[in-house]
Amino acid sequence: MKAIIIGATSGIGRELAQQMSTQGYELGITGRRSHLLDTLAEVLPAKAYKATMDLEDVQGALKAFKQLLETMDGVDLVVINSGTGSNDPKLPLEDELSTVAVNVLGFTAIANVAYHYFVSKGHGHIVGISSIAAVRGGPAASYNASKAYVSSYLEGLACRAHVDAKDISITDIRPGFVDTAMAKGEGIFWCAPVPKAAQQILTAIKHKRSVVYVTKRWRLIAILLECLPGGVYRKLMG
Ligand SMILES: NC(=O)c1ccc[n+]([C@@H]2O[C@H](COP(=O)([O-])OP(=O)(O)OC[C@H]3O[C@@H](n4cnc5c(N)ncnc54)[C@H](OP(=O)(O)O)[C@@H]3O)[C@@H](O)[C@H]2O)c1
Repeated sequence: MKAIIIGATSGIGRELAQQMSTQGYELGITGRRSHLLDTLAEVLPAKAYKATMDLEDVQGALKAFKQLLETMDGVDLVVINSGTGSNDPKLPLEDELSTVAVNVLGFTAIANVAYHYFVSKGHGHIVGISSIAAVRGGPAASYNASKAYVSSYLEGLACRAHVDAKDISITDIRPGFVDTAMAKGEGIFWCAPVPKAAQQILTAIKHKRSVVYVTKRWRLIAILLECLPGGVYRKLMG
């Protein structure tokens, strides 16, 4: 199997790369920090191809992504893991726009090109790393909104593939807290170790699941969040 992981330089993406490579996946690994791609490629047991890309530069990222698809000569799976967000309570516009640029525009560009690539190939699998934050709005306004977009876009691609009778699987991964650089600050609970989260993501990928909460207990939180009335929810978020 050949797979590309968009955002493999740290955290969940890096661990997923390690677990997949150990299981024999030939990988394309991407991110902005090319020195981290180099050190990762050195320790991966199976063959790995590197591509430096910044999703804020959509055209540059697409060029690198298409080049990677060509170099790898046939890919079965694309995991779009890259994501960013800000916890700054002042909600600076610059941070909000950066979150939207990466999590919405960059995500859409890769997901769209991957979809068309798999249509032309006849089959494939797209996995997006969304978040429990997709379920409702939150104080990190652009982050929750962007993850709601990610989950909705993935469901849209699944509908598109079904309507067009294409053999393309879509998986929406919604992690709760995972112990990475991103999960910092107050109010963190049920924080999953990165290897455990990556292992559950890989299992979901292998079973071509549609929507998966990681770890599994976060499904309960999602149900609870969906049921809470607005006033109660806002107090909880405060
Ligand atoms: N940790 C959690 O609690 C948690 C919970 C729910 C969802 N998630 C989601 O899980 C995914 C992975 O996050 P993580 O927790 O593993 O954090 P992380 O260690 O900070 O990883 C983020 C990844 O995204 C890449 N990335 C960030 N900005 C990028 C850009 N402009 N262009 C290209 N790649 C970029 C980073 O690579 P470079 O910096 O090298 O570019 C890195 O590989 C994210 O989508 C995040 O939203 C995390």
